Amino acid sequence: MIKLKKGILIVFEGIDGGGKTTQAKMLMARLHKKGYDAVYFREPSGSRWGMEIRRKAAYKDSISPEGELDLFLKDRRENVEKNLKPALKENKIVILDRYYFSTIAYQGAKGISQQRIRKMNEGFAVLPDLVIILDIGPSQGLGRIGGREKKDLLFEREDYLLKVREIFNSFREDNIVHIKANRPLNQIADEIEQVTLGYLT
Ligand code: TYD
Repeated sequence: MIKLKKGILIVFEGIDGGGKTTQAKMLMARLHKKGYDAVYFREPSGSRWGMEIRRKAAYKDSISPEGELDLFLKDRRENVEKNLKPALKENKIVILDRYYFSTIAYQGAKGISQQRIRKMNEGFAVLPDLVIILDIGPSQGLGRIGGREKKDLLFEREDYLLKVREIFNSFREDNIVHIKANRPLNQIADEIEQVTLGYLT
């Protein structure tokens, strides 16, 4: 097993249907093969808040943007303390499927101040070393996850995801990489692996 001098947090972000989970798991498998100690977590997490978010989504319960924000933040606090910090302390590579960039983009697209969301998160969330944003058009993304929604709901969702995508695209920092996701899986995985290895030396 290759030992790193410190833990590394790699975050996957992007709108629904861009292949985040697939790519996150492909990266983990590739890192394991090279002898690295990598673990995978996702948000919403398995905390009771995360479960509540998933339950509300499944039953299409109505919830205000502020209520949503509150739940995602509570879930994240628990994920940071219970999962991320312990793994990072053991110098592992932590691969995380969605993080606070999702909150800025998804809840921001519902009208909450992006600045405010960022500040609330930066108060407790560990900063990531690398953020990989998978970019895909909303109609293509929704097509991939096989939306079973009615046509008008689908259009509404597409419209919303267009705003979410725009916010993801506006994130420009040295440790943020934007990757076009409408390409063969292995090609994308190769690119992600190359970028990641640069952060491990
Ligand atoms: P998703 O990763 O798509 O979950 P699943 O694996 O069940 O498909 O995340 C669920 C939804 O939650 C997704 O539409 C994005 C949304 N979300 C937010 O709105 N804000 C957040 O902070 C997070 C983490 C997710």
